[in-house]
Amino acid sequence: ERGDIDAGFAKAKNIVQGEMRIGGQDHFYLEGHISFAIPGEDDEVTVIASTQHPSETQHMVAQVLGIPSNAITVNIRRMGGAFGGKETQANLFAAVAALAARKYRRPVKVRPDRDDDMTATGKRHDFHVDYRIGFDDDGRIAAVDAVFAARCGFSADLSGPVTDRALFHADNCYFYPNVRLRSRPLKTNTVSNTAFRGFGGPQGMVGGERMIEDIAYTLGKDPLEIRKLNFYGGEGRNLTPYHQTVEDNIIGRVIEELEASADYAARREVVLAFNRENHVIKRGIALTPVKFGISFTKTEYNQAGALIHVYTDGSIQLNHGGTEMGQGLYTKVAQVVADEFQVDLDRIKVTATSTGKVPNTSATAASSGSDLNGMAAANAAQQIKARLVGFAAQRYGASEADVAFEPNVVRIGSERIAFADFIKSAYAARVQLSAAGFYKTPKIHWSRAEGRGRPFYYYAYGASCSEVSVDTLTGEYQVERTDILHDVGKSLNPALDLGQVEGAFVQGMGWLTTEELWWDAKGRLRTHAPSTYKIPLASDRPRIFNVRLVEWSVNREETIRRSKAVGEPPFMLGISVLEAISMAAASVAEYRIPPRIDAPATPERVLMAIERLRAATRGKADG
Ligand code: MTE
Ligand code: MOS
Repeated sequence: ERGDIDAGFAKAKNIVQGEMRIGGQDHFYLEGHISFAIPGEDDEVTVIASTQHPSETQHMVAQVLGIPSNAITVNIRRMGGAFGGKETQANLFAAVAALAARKYRRPVKVRPDRDDDMTATGKRHDFHVDYRIGFDDDGRIAAVDAVFAARCGFSADLSGPVTDRALFHADNCYFYPNVRLRSRPLKTNTVSNTAFRGFGGPQGMVGGERMIEDIAYTLGKDPLEIRKLNFYGGEGRNLTPYHQTVEDNIIGRVIEELEASADYAARREVVLAFNRENHVIKRGIALTPVKFGISFTKTEYNQAGALIHVYTDGSIQLNHGGTEMGQGLYTKVAQVVADEFQVDLDRIKVTATSTGKVPNTSATAASSGSDLNGMAAANAAQQIKARLVGFAAQRYGASEADVAFEPNVVRIGSERIAFADFIKSAYAARVQLSAAGFYKTPKIHWSRAEGRGRPFYYYAYGASCSEVSVDTLTGEYQVERTDILHDVGKSLNPALDLGQVEGAFVQGMGWLTTEELWWDAKGRLRTHAPSTYKIPLASDRPRIFNVRLVEWSVNREETIRRSKAVGEPPFMLGISVLEAISMAAASVAEYRIPPRIDAPATPERVLMAIERLRAATRGKADG
């Protein structure tokens, strides 16, 4: 809460009240949950589990078995996709497998089939948003009051932090002078909902963007104009509802560049002209921004460890607390270490993540895997390098400044020694060639009780522009074109980052369009397989799809190589598709009535919204 919302509404010329339902989402990882528990001697159990959070799985298994954590080892080489669905939900399968392994004294594997996995595991929380916004005739926001209610399911799981993160992102890129945001985490008799890419942030942001749309269609303006008017920036307009100052705002420039490269203004004119002439197919175009806060809002989670061994043949073994789920974390962290030692990437082997190697880790989540583990690994490498430099200077009678790591060689003054030979001599001189690294994110703090602090180390930004065509007789639609410009700071690996941006956009689009969870009157999930639960297909991707990274962006904070997290933020680029569909629907009412299509905007829902808008305009005309 910030400012004075009563005063804000009192002076607002326009007040709009609305509500929105936002659906949940199944993770639909390609590979479902698996746990394989192997009993050892005494009370020991090793569990190979599909978990994003091996340390928590370790503690949960220990708790279920009633033994200390030191008897449990959890290993995970990689997951075939996770998306937040294996942050807590893996614990169930690991605990069951471990319990059976203990009881029967033999290895036990638990592997639910797809239907059971979809029925039994928690999903993205569906939300119901009630909001009231006050604004002037230009569309400048004066006050926002909103309640975000979420279906949490039968247990708390991560619902507290998920509903918090919804509130942290309800402002998206906009300054609310007077604001009150409340969450209502609801205990329900359904599956226990959990983390899913964006962690409540997308639901908050969709709510915030719906408010912008309402202002635009109430005033008969282009939503992009309302967005720009309300962006953070300028005197006294940089404070978020949670009292963190936005210090690294680049959204203005990102929007400007995307507007130009996507040719937004001219294409919007073409769309408007098309809609005047065509009565069955209607088009819509929308350009939407993203600002996403990076760090776990639970401050203590923002720490990481790594373990590096350099062997006497010059090969390097790397282990860190992060898990691989297809996002490319292992590659990024290996690159960091290769770069530190200036050796080829294939000299580095990343071993499976194990609680026995790096303890007390955080979940690989909140997009912070490379930020945290990259820094911890760099720290371990730097410790070993410092010892090596000391050794080299002493051995060769050089100053430490004369020792440098160059591609696959170590240079001491004018002498160059192959890396492996150098390591051999360091070993002979009894230099320790192994180190445990550690990192904790600086500057962050958060008081939940006061609703104040600096929960995020920095923000990642992005924008997308989507154009759709909608068949107003059936509600079916096609994404004609999407242009994306996304900020990853100084990219650690542009190929991986582009993959993350493309995948996240498509997953976000699926969430807001076709992925519909449906329970029958008896509470049975009837959409528990791809036959009834429709994720985007290759044929659903935008016909023209231009994805670029912001090339000039450098993280102003000292993150690993000045990069930014990429895992979750681009998920919310999918909002442009929902808004483009909104515009196409709004065209049947001359863009003067907020179309308010709930998510997911399935063809049925789009058709019903169009019918509603047509009826409303007929009503207006008759009246
Ligand atoms: N990408 C792939 N291919 N598979 C996944 O399961 N999970 C996402 C994102 N990208 C995921 C993914 C989620 S929910 C998060 S939080 C981040 O990756 C986690 O990894 P990172 O912190 O290393 O980015
Ligand atoms: Mo991602 S939802 O933080 O695992």
